[in-house]
Amino acid sequence: LKVAVMVSGRGSNLRALQEEAPEQGYVITGVVSNNPTAPAVDYARDQGLAVRLVDHRRFATRAAFEETLATALDDLAPDIIALAGFLRVLGADFVGRYQGRLLNIHPSLLPAFPGLDTHRRALASGARVHGATVHLVTDAVDGGPIIAQAGLTVIPGEPPAALAARVLALEHALYPYVLGRWARGEIADR
Ligand code: GRF
Repeated sequence: LKVAVMVSGRGSNLRALQEEAPEQGYVITGVVSNNPTAPAVDYARDQGLAVRLVDHRRFATRAAFEETLATALDDLAPDIIALAGFLRVLGADFVGRYQGRLLNIHPSLLPAFPGLDTHRRALASGARVHGATVHLVTDAVDGGPIIAQAGLTVIPGEPPAALAARVLALEHALYPYVLGRWARGEIADR
């Protein structure tokens, strides 16, 4: 299974995906970033991965940005595309082009807490469970079909940063697990 990973920032999920690839039976064929200075890009280069930079600031329209993004992706010939901290919302044309093989990881138990700042919101709501979700991307932001989730028990009063770190550790186990299952043909309901 050939995987292209799309990133914008820190890249800790990219690292987890890369480290678990041999064990899980997929290969990362390249990384696409809209942010040339993302730490994720440095990591990808250190690993010898193909890197394609598509800086959204250089495009007048989202359509033009996404067309170039798609060309960069198609160049990597992925079977599946994993968004890992990719911070641009993708339009319906782009999403439709990769329908059924575009995945995202989100730091909450969707459908709870779509959008940003999920850990603080989970704590403020009094939620007792929280976690991470891998889902198919559709043009409904954080609203596509759920593939897998990992959860934990919220410790009342814990700082949002502590909760965030605990959820991130779950993400790093969940995302490679999902791609491994995908590679083995074990995800049928999509
Ligand atoms: C993760 O929390 C992920 O769930 C969210 O963005 C963050 C990316 O972190 N979509 P990293 O760049 O993988 O470290």
